[in-house]
Amino acid sequence: MTNVAVIGSQWGDEGKGKIVDWLSEKADIVVRFQGGHNAGHTLVIDGTKYKLSLLPSGIIRAGKMSVIGHGVVIDPAALINEISTRKGQGVAISPDNLMISYSAPIILPVHQRVDVAREAQRGAGKIGTTGRGIGPAYEDKVARRGLRMGDLLDMDALAEKTAALLAHHNIWLKAAGEDELTVEEITAPLQEMRDQLIPYLGEVWALLDDYRRDGRRILFEGAQGVMLDIDHGTYPFVTSSNTLPGQAAAGAGIGPGSVGYVLGITKAYTTRVGSGPFPTEDFGEDGVTLGERGHEFGTVTGRKRRCGWFDAVMVRQAGKIAGIHGMALTKLDVLDGFDVLKICTGYTLDGKVIDRFPASSAEQARVEPVYEEIEGWSQSTMGARSWADLPSQAVKYIKRLEELTGIPVATVSTSPEREDTILVRDPFEG
Ligand code: IMP
Repeated sequence: MTNVAVIGSQWGDEGKGKIVDWLSEKADIVVRFQGGHNAGHTLVIDGTKYKLSLLPSGIIRAGKMSVIGHGVVIDPAALINEISTRKGQGVAISPDNLMISYSAPIILPVHQRVDVAREAQRGAGKIGTTGRGIGPAYEDKVARRGLRMGDLLDMDALAEKTAALLAHHNIWLKAAGEDELTVEEITAPLQEMRDQLIPYLGEVWALLDDYRRDGRRILFEGAQGVMLDIDHGTYPFVTSSNTLPGQAAAGAGIGPGSVGYVLGITKAYTTRVGSGPFPTEDFGEDGVTLGERGHEFGTVTGRKRRCGWFDAVMVRQAGKIAGIHGMALTKLDVLDGFDVLKICTGYTLDGKVIDRFPASSAEQARVEPVYEEIEGWSQSTMGARSWADLPSQAVKYIKRLEELTGIPVATVSTSPEREDTILVRDPFEG
């Protein structure tokens, strides 16, 4: 038995929530290690929908421990709101099943204000962030002026740190014609919320060390995807954290050897929210059909997702960068009924064929996809639970994706319901 890290191998929204929930049944502890409430997972269990943003997906299952590591940026108001909404749905949440790292950076209202104001300034060149303050909060962490969850234990020291933090941000806000913030505006809400949060704070590294030594199973739950990684993604149109499995170790506080099997959640086609290059984006009818059938609207912001064909070059590259051992292929059923499916097998850049996604953002914007066409299938794959339930063309499509990406398929998901999954290889078996 091994631990498992679940990451997105495209631009996020690959359907990680369902797979993490499915795996969490076997895990003893589920750990978030990066991102924040820019992420949105929808789980459907016995017909009930649960929307999760900051809480690890394990929280829905009784008897599982859930952890928010220090690599996650936390908006305290959003977290309290999410806890209370889930409790309203009958989910038990207490310090017995949720621990939050003392060292997790806090997202403050100033971060959200800066995020939104900067996007407005960028105009047409905007990144298309979720407007949650994620980027500015990570910047403050790296600049060593951020507040951390553990700071809630000492409000006098927190007020001093807030004054230093605002001294920095107010200069820019004023120059940008935005309202400045006072220390009181930051500290008063934190004062009100701290009693609800402090009981959850703990030393995540020590808890994980206990689980590791006891041989209990750890599931690391990534957010976003490899192509949104701050270093390896389509910079600058990326999120502000590392979305790779290496971050599972760094953002939780455990050795890299404990990360285990890396499962890359991979949609059977491609979507992206926000701006930035997307070589296989389909602007025609097929793109519209994929969006409609796949219900491609953001869980967090409700924005319409851009849709297009499977990009095997990008997924192959993501597989190498992230060390993906196996793919969990999702939303195969959305492709039902297409006469012809396209798969991107290479790009042309200024007339030359290339087999990788270039690092330069100018070149990323110029690449054109080279497509291979494959016959579709008319039968429904929705709800299939074994290879035998799939039309032969669907099996051919999956096999071709494996060949082109070099990544074996571990599971295939054929509907939002957790049981509608074809298991090829159990990630916990390594
Ligand atoms: P930020 O993470 O809010 O700074 O947004 C930066 C970029 O990442 C934007 O293109 C967002 O649309 C994208 N993004 C952030 N979180 C997610 C996610 O969970 N799924 C898909 N895209 C995301």
